[in-house]
Amino acid sequence: MSEAIKPPEQRPEHPDFWCKRFGEGITPWDAGKVPAAFADYIARQPAPLNTLIPGCGSAWEAAHLAELGWPVTALDFSPAAIETARRVLGQASVDLLCADFFTFSPARPIALIYERAFLCALPRKLWAEWGQRVADLLPAGGRLAGYFFLCEQPKGPPFGILPTQLEALLQDNFERIEDTEVSDSIPVFAGRERWQVWRRR
Ligand SMILES: C[S@@+](CC[C@H](N)C(=O)[O-])C[C@H]1O[C@@H](n2cnc3c(N)ncnc32)[C@H](O)[C@@H]1O
Repeated sequence: MSEAIKPPEQRPEHPDFWCKRFGEGITPWDAGKVPAAFADYIARQPAPLNTLIPGCGSAWEAAHLAELGWPVTALDFSPAAIETARRVLGQASVDLLCADFFTFSPARPIALIYERAFLCALPRKLWAEWGQRVADLLPAGGRLAGYFFLCEQPKGPPFGILPTQLEALLQDNFERIEDTEVSDSIPVFAGRERWQVWRRR
């Protein structure tokens, strides 16, 4: 079936794709926990950073940040994802927004963007826009930190990205300052994801 005539629930650039999966409880990307390298990175920061989590899904990490008193915005364009996140977050102090990453207006300046299973959820035609958007949202010195699904996997989601492709998206505006193996991946990503931190130039 050509892209043009696929229904929205078969197009990952459309919220209905994700609503269907959250609605059916088919969320194989969901770690159901706070990943270790993320928790470690947060623990290493000298002070809380205003953090954005685009494509937050269940928002486990937002709950963790809120517990530590960090200001955090968790954003997702799928109302079903937002409902799930609301259940996970309970009374946690998190700005939970149902909005499109590419068009929303941040309420306050962002210092850290956390990436997990968001870039790999986006079809390739949106990658360049993603690279520009993360650069536009961060001031000099701001960080893009998280997990990147580095492999050749053109059919997705998850869509794999090659290390050279990721560098091409980010290197004009960012310098990579961390790049390590991941020890606690869930099966969908195991052996093919790395923890990376990129600093905005
Ligand atoms: C694979 S899930 C990952 C969820 C979460 N980050 C995690 O690690 O469990 C991708 C999420 O990105 C959201 N998403 C995709 N495109 C989006 C966009 N343009 N703006 C906001 N959210 C988006 C989807 O609704 C979905 O919840």
